[in-house]
Amino acid sequence: MKTVEWNFTTHKLQMIDQRLLPGTFEVAVFDDYRAVGQAITDMVVRGAPAIGAAAGFALGLAANQSAATTPEGLLTDLKSAADLLKKARPTAVNLAWALDRILNTLTPSPSLKRRGEAPPLPGGEGWGEGSLQSLRAAVLTEAQRIADEDVEINQRMAHHGAELIADGDTVIHHCNTGALATVDWGTALGVIRMAHKQGKNIHVLVDETRPRLQGSRLTAWELEQYGISYDIISDNAAGYFLSNGQVDKVFVGSDRTAANGDVANKIGTYMLALAAYDNGVPFYPVVPTSTIDLSLATGAEIPIEERDQAEVLSLTFQGQAAFPEGASARNPAFDITPHRLVTGIVTENGVAYPPYLENLRKVVNVKTS
Ligand code: MRU
Repeated sequence: MKTVEWNFTTHKLQMIDQRLLPGTFEVAVFDDYRAVGQAITDMVVRGAPAIGAAAGFALGLAANQSAATTPEGLLTDLKSAADLLKKARPTAVNLAWALDRILNTLTPSPSLKRRGEAPPLPGGEGWGEGSLQSLRAAVLTEAQRIADEDVEINQRMAHHGAELIADGDTVIHHCNTGALATVDWGTALGVIRMAHKQGKNIHVLVDETRPRLQGSRLTAWELEQYGISYDIISDNAAGYFLSNGQVDKVFVGSDRTAANGDVANKIGTYMLALAAYDNGVPFYPVVPTSTIDLSLATGAEIPIEERDQAEVLSLTFQGQAAFPEGASARNPAFDITPHRLVTGIVTENGVAYPPYLENLRKVVNVKTS
C-alpha cells in the first residue's frame, strides 16, 4: 500500500505507522481529522510530502465530520480544521501548502464576493441544493489530486536527479526521504532508486539520523526492499567518509527551501553539507517545488521545530540509560543549510543551480500543462 491512502469504501484515511518500523508493519486507520493532526505531531506519518498529503485527506475527514447545514458553515468548519492541522508540525511547508491549496479551490474569488455572486463550485453548482455534498466531494477530490501528483512529481525529480549519479557511485543519504516520506516513490531516495533501476551500481551510506533514527529504521528498510547496497553509519562518521574519498555525492530532502536556496532539513544536514563542501563533494537537496517557499527571503525565517527532550534521552547503553539521572537535552528537529554549500537543487522541473534567487523562481514558475 501507499504511505498515505484514502479508502474509498470505508471513507477513512489509512497510513503506515512509521513509529513501529522496521520491526512491525501496521496500518493506522483514521476517521477523525484531529486524530490525524495528532498522528502528524507524533510522527506516525512524517516526511514533508507525506505530511502534506495526510493533512489534505484530514480536511476530507473534517468535511465529513462537519455538522454544518450551509456551505458557509462548512467553509468555516474547514478553515478552523485547517488552522488546527497547520499547527501539527511547523517546519514542513507542505502542510500549510496542501491545506491552503484545497481551501483555495473552495473559496469564492474576491471579485465574485464583491459582486455578491455564487462561487464556482465544482460541477458548476451554485450555493443551492446539493452544494454541501459538492463541497465535501471537492475537498476529497483535491486531496486525492495532491496525493496523485506527489507520486508523479517524485518520479520526474528522480529522472532529473538520476542523471547526476554515475555508475559505481557511493552516496550519503540523511534521514528518510523515500516512499515512506512521500505518498510513494520518494525524493532524494527516489533519485537513488531511479539510478538503481537504470542499472547503475550504487552504494548508499545511510546516516542513522539521531534521535529518531529515520535512516537506520526507515531508509535501510526501504533499501532492503529495493535490493540497493548500503551500510548504516553513525551520523558523526559522515565527515570521515567524505574526507577520505569514499563518497561521490550527497543527496538529502528538504522540509522547506527559502527563495535564496537556504535549505531546512533534518537535524544534522548542515554538518553534512559543511563536510561535503570542505571536501569538494557535491551536495544535492531533492525538493519538489511545493516545498520551495518563495515568500521567505532566507532560511533564517523558517520556523524550526524543537521536539520533546525525551526523544534524545531515550537512548540506552548495555540495557541502561545512556545519560545520568536528571540530565536534560535539547532537540531541534531541523537545521538550515546555507545556499553557499548547496551544489544544485533537484526539482520536478529540472535542477536549479546558483544563483538560486533567480533560478529557483524559474523552476517554480515553470508552467506544466
Ligand atoms: O522529522 P521528519 O522525519 O518528518 O523529517 C523528514 C525530513 O527531514 C526529510 O528529509 C524531508 O521531509 C524531505 S522528505 C521527502
